[in-house]
Amino acid sequence: MNLIKYIDKLTIPPIAKPTKKINGVTYYEMRMNQFYFNIHSSLPDTLVWGFEGFYPGPTFEVKQFEEVKVKWMNDLPPKHLFTVDKTIHGAEGDTPEVRTVIHVHGGITPADSDGYPDAWFTNGYRVVGSDFTQEVYHYYNTHEATTLWYHDHTIGITRLNIYAGLAGFYLIRDKNELSLSLPKGKYEIPLMIQDRTLNPDGSLNYPDQPSDAFEPTPKFFGDTIVVNGKAWPYLEVEPRKYRFRILNGSNSRYYILKLDNHQPFIQIGNDGGFLEKPVIMEEILLGPAERADVIIDFSTNQARKIVMLNLAPEEYPNEGKIFTETTGQIMQFRIVLPLKGADLSKIPNKLRNVYFLKEEDAVKNRTLTLDRTLDQIGRRIVLIDNKRWDDPITEKPELGNIEIWTFINATVSIHPLHLHLVNVQILDRQPYDQDLFLKTGEIKMTGEKIPPAKNEIGWKDTVNSSPGEIIRIIAQFQPYPGKYVFHCHILEHEDYEMMRPYKVITNGN
Ligand code: C2O
Ligand code: CU
Repeated sequence: MNLIKYIDKLTIPPIAKPTKKINGVTYYEMRMNQFYFNIHSSLPDTLVWGFEGFYPGPTFEVKQFEEVKVKWMNDLPPKHLFTVDKTIHGAEGDTPEVRTVIHVHGGITPADSDGYPDAWFTNGYRVVGSDFTQEVYHYYNTHEATTLWYHDHTIGITRLNIYAGLAGFYLIRDKNELSLSLPKGKYEIPLMIQDRTLNPDGSLNYPDQPSDAFEPTPKFFGDTIVVNGKAWPYLEVEPRKYRFRILNGSNSRYYILKLDNHQPFIQIGNDGGFLEKPVIMEEILLGPAERADVIIDFSTNQARKIVMLNLAPEEYPNEGKIFTETTGQIMQFRIVLPLKGADLSKIPNKLRNVYFLKEEDAVKNRTLTLDRTLDQIGRRIVLIDNKRWDDPITEKPELGNIEIWTFINATVSIHPLHLHLVNVQILDRQPYDQDLFLKTGEIKMTGEKIPPAKNEIGWKDTVNSSPGEIIRIIAQFQPYPGKYVFHCHILEHEDYEMMRPYKVITNGN
């Protein structure tokens, strides 16, 4: 669709309202429903899914250590917005089409509230998946201040459910954050960046794959960029500092964010919360599910209009065309509002103390491959360690232990790897001879170890593993035992086998 850019105002999702507070626990009810939403003013309204009538869903604002319960409810119709491919794991046979389960991405959550992919449920909880245990999820929010997000995680259809709209922000605040005097209130804005393809009637298009497709779940790339659901929106700003919580909520697309006036971003946080110190970034790479917490100072430039660009081609980091008129642009800032009072916000030199896990404290080093292979009917799929979702659990860290996980990327793509329950730290990345490895299994490094980028130092929950590279991450498996998952966050990969369960065990089981 060829849409005129920057004629629609950015919408900002409302703050989620709790229904009650009982014994110090904040209680929410969140209904997933289907409704019409205007993505672009030249198009008819689009049928989408969201929460409580909002796409993206309402933003949770919680305090660190605040106990929160959420009853996630499925009020969706029995028919999906898109074709459900029944050849995909977990979606087979007479499995209901419309199933949902919600995961708070990056949250430190007990296993039974983490949104296990097989813990799905249908409208009214009439049919539930094999791991379903409860309707109300319990969150303890022990994470330091951070930008989390919640989204669907249903086995076999996550790509369709998130594409339909089942995602929202979940912000945790703490005392330290309050003391930092960062821009807040209307000067602090979440931005969920996604790509979509729209039909002329306004409906969302997600391509079906024929049953004999070479790849059953190829990566999805839309031709239209939406931010908080609006196609190429604009935002009117005052000449002052703003804080943006940027999330890549796309199925497969990587972004390299850049401002067209060459003003840098001042990045203060990523998907693990605050960095130790702010870093100046000319460009920010953002893979699916990654976040960047940034300050943009609109007082320091002459430009009246600034466009946020995307410099990444679809097959990033491989070469490819950048569509400068469509997916090469994201949104526009217009510095047209008068300054309402002095900008007293600050960019502190120090944001927080980060504790660094030590390699020598790791009790185990697991090496896992990322592999390209064929499914039982000869279609291309990508796996973790050559294992399928239903294969027995092989990763069983003992509660409290520190482990190093090494991923050997033997595929031709980059994969944003995400572990539930824990935040991780990147130790290093290193190029290796992939051809030799594929032929003989031998690992020969072909270059030096590369330390994490300056905006990756500290905690992360999603890390990029590039083709031909070995990445080592370190994590401490706590505070809850139980069954969790780790996976590639390219939703088309996650949905078809690039996801594995893992189990945090106590005393050996
Ligand atoms: Cu963003 Cu396993 O999830
Ligand atoms: Cu992947």
